[in-house]
Amino acid sequence: MIIKKFNNFNNNYLFSLKVPATAANLGSGFDTLGMALNLYNIFNIRKLLPAGEFKCETSGEGTEELSDIKDNMLVASYLKACEKWNVDKPLGFELESCNAVPFSRGLGSSSTAVTAGVLFAKLINNLNNISEPELLRMMTLIEGHPDNVAPCFVGGMVASCWDVSAETLQYVKLPALPDDLYVIAAVPDFKVQTEEARKILPPSVPFKDAVFNVSHAALLCAAWAMGRWDLLKSGMDDKLHQPHRAKLFPGGEKILENIKNYKDCLAVAISGSGPTMIAIVKGKAGDLAAEMCRIFTAGGVSSHFFILNCAPDGVIVEINN
Ligand code: HSE
Repeated sequence: MIIKKFNNFNNNYLFSLKVPATAANLGSGFDTLGMALNLYNIFNIRKLLPAGEFKCETSGEGTEELSDIKDNMLVASYLKACEKWNVDKPLGFELESCNAVPFSRGLGSSSTAVTAGVLFAKLINNLNNISEPELLRMMTLIEGHPDNVAPCFVGGMVASCWDVSAETLQYVKLPALPDDLYVIAAVPDFKVQTEEARKILPPSVPFKDAVFNVSHAALLCAAWAMGRWDLLKSGMDDKLHQPHRAKLFPGGEKILENIKNYKDCLAVAISGSGPTMIAIVKGKAGDLAAEMCRIFTAGGVSSHFFILNCAPDGVIVEINN
């Protein structure tokens, strides 16, 4: 997170948050690994309102789905964090959301809202004693798992998990990928709800598959920390969730199978619970991105792509004093 303070009476905002998309799981790291991407939702608070009053103007991704304030996850997260931190009658606000992160596509759009809602609870109520780990703990309690909210909040690539008592969230941030490595996000026009994508996972897995994932996730973290990008492909191999989830949308299995064999492709995975597919590429990414979209088209779904970088900083907060 980066905090910038400024004093601009012509500016219409009290607070402005620039909140990144994320790719969670990274193959082997189910529910534990994720990276921030330089594609952002922007949430501005124009003014504070009396307790219980909220207004929201949304543009961009998810505008239809977010038209009713009752469905607004940012407001719900704000209220939940205020309640947990014992804020009496939290003030309402007038919010402007400019969304670039595709909605329900596995790029962490809901995490941007949860992260922003929790940060607004701290900022609006001047809860200065709340530390970064406590903020992330609250975001994770609301979101359910840490692998999207952790990189969304702090940036880079993050490994995170609850400790054994499920009280403390442990996390370590690794640096972002170098700038000459690109992350293609191929986004089909097809929605997958995370809840549904979790329901199809088996209740138990063979011991050897669990060992496979533990060892590959460990390799991925070690390779990432040491800049051994040649090992990303192997490190992102997974037997826990992708074999089941790639069947949920046309093109998923084929992209997982085919794309990693292309020259310059360092790794391929389902982003979060899908259906967006990510590929990490060295050098020119356009041809591979087009190929990923061609596979979606052959499966009967239209799609579009982004060529992104891993974002080093997580949320960027601007406070107008
Ligand atoms: N780890 C979560 C899942 C991420 O795969 O269900 C969801 O975005």
